[in-house]
Amino acid sequence: MFIDGFKVESPNVNYTENEIHSVYDYQTTELVHENKNGAFQWTVKPKTVKYEFKTDTHLPKLGVMLVGWGGNNGSTLTAGIIANREGISWATKEKVQQANYFGSLTQASSIRVGSFNGEEIYAPFKSLLPMVNPEEIVFGGWDISDMNLADAMGRAKVLDIDLQKQLRPFMEHLVPLPGIFDPDFIAANQGSRANHVIKGTKKQQLEQVINDIREFKERSKVEKVVVLWTANTERYSDVVVGLNDTTENLMSSLEKDEAEISPSTLYAIACVLENVPFINGSPQNTFVPGLIELAIERNCLIGGDDFKSGQTKMKSVLVDFLVGAGIKPTSIVSYNHLGNNDGMNLSAPQTFRSKEISKSNVVDDMVASNGILYEPGEHPDHVVVIKYVPYVGDSKRAMDEYTSEIFMGGTNTIVMHNTCEDSLLAAPIILDLVLLAELTTRIKFKSENEGKFHSFHPVATLLSYLSKAPLVPPGTPVVNALSKQRAMLENVLRACVGLAPENNMILEYK
Ligand SMILES: NC(=O)c1ccc[n+]([C@@H]2O[C@H](COP(=O)([O-])OP(=O)(O)OC[C@H]3O[C@@H](n4cnc5c(N)ncnc54)[C@H](O)[C@@H]3O)[C@@H](O)[C@H]2O)c1
Repeated sequence: MFIDGFKVESPNVNYTENEIHSVYDYQTTELVHENKNGAFQWTVKPKTVKYEFKTDTHLPKLGVMLVGWGGNNGSTLTAGIIANREGISWATKEKVQQANYFGSLTQASSIRVGSFNGEEIYAPFKSLLPMVNPEEIVFGGWDISDMNLADAMGRAKVLDIDLQKQLRPFMEHLVPLPGIFDPDFIAANQGSRANHVIKGTKKQQLEQVINDIREFKERSKVEKVVVLWTANTERYSDVVVGLNDTTENLMSSLEKDEAEISPSTLYAIACVLENVPFINGSPQNTFVPGLIELAIERNCLIGGDDFKSGQTKMKSVLVDFLVGAGIKPTSIVSYNHLGNNDGMNLSAPQTFRSKEISKSNVVDDMVASNGILYEPGEHPDHVVVIKYVPYVGDSKRAMDEYTSEIFMGGTNTIVMHNTCEDSLLAAPIILDLVLLAELTTRIKFKSENEGKFHSFHPVATLLSYLSKAPLVPPGTPVVNALSKQRAMLENVLRACVGLAPENNMILEYK
């Protein structure tokens, strides 16, 4: 059964006008590795740590600035939210279609809240904690192409034409601000698009972005801003000692107008200096060490990298299932072809390399989890190929072959064809990223061993479900398995309202 919402009643949770305060027993384990009579042995000690969470329930008027606003993702997300807000429906050859939020974890998925008279009860994910209503977000942003959002939606060729016609009046007046363009970082084939750029030195470009954020805030009367990069994939920046390895070096390289500071890093520095959360939806290493250090110093949320929308999402489910079932994937071969502007940009070797890197490590944690199947250091062969085929447009095709070793030397081969509808998968993920980033900035917590409440670590691992190559603080394990990432997010939000983590034991029926 599905219910619309619920309120938790418990001595451990207290709702006041502006805050939800919960006290939560975190059940964890302590591992001890010790020498007992000449042999090393692992001992596991269950441990309970008391945590307190405070969630500010005041929902701010939220502004979202997209870098690459006029691209396929940016225009599709903007159009989709307006269509929902205006209750637009349109005729397809199949039926009359209503606007919806399918594909959004926060808007279209549910959580289990318990059972009632022998029936499982589910509620919307978004009913766990107060979240900003997507239809109240004010959108803005930058693009190196000056096209207004209505024309950009046409250029993207993603949405049905009848829908586009209805949306045009709402989008014609939306024009991106000029963006930072550096032809050294994206494919040469993007040059013809760049007619709308911020001039000057790197420092001047950074200052312009800071001004843009301030003016946007002022003009649209929003209380909070989140910035998200959905612009073209850049090549990797070289991480060089003395250049971008520390905050000090990064800032002095900026003064010297060093070439090796990418546009995405410039936007990110601007955001951190303004204490505006910045999320990177593309694979490049925007977050060079000097920038991560700056974000930690300023306690400003950063998250990424690269939206996890299609092929990688399947991979982070399938390999988890195989390894979890005691089946040994030995070769994973992934082909993609796509024909949108992202695909054209990725046809250059340097930008493709960024994508290849971001897709390459996604099974590492699952492989490392099973020492019965894999020797230390052993990995399945893993190859990723991306080709640009203009005819298929935004309808990306992903073909994967998973070969695994099964019982008694047998072989199991799974071949999969996934038509990804790239931007229709990515747009709801962008929405989730900004809503969850905003929400996490309203949560403070402390363990029984800490004196003061603090926010989550500025490197936002809570967003990993939505990221292909989750950025984590130095020394933190990287989790790629999708089910674990979702459980982590859901269980942290449950803790904020004093609910136990979902453990699927259903002991009351055993
Ligand atoms: N399913 C998906 O669509 C998906 C999944 C994962 C990652 N991504 C990444 O998301 C990004 C966007 O994808 P898309 O399909 O919307 O691409 P797109 O090419 O349609 O849009 C990118 C936009 O960014 C603009 N741009 C480029 N450099 C800029 C800069 N420095 N400043 C401001 N604007 C700039 C371009 O003019 C363009 O309008 C790509 O990097 C892609 O790899 C997409």
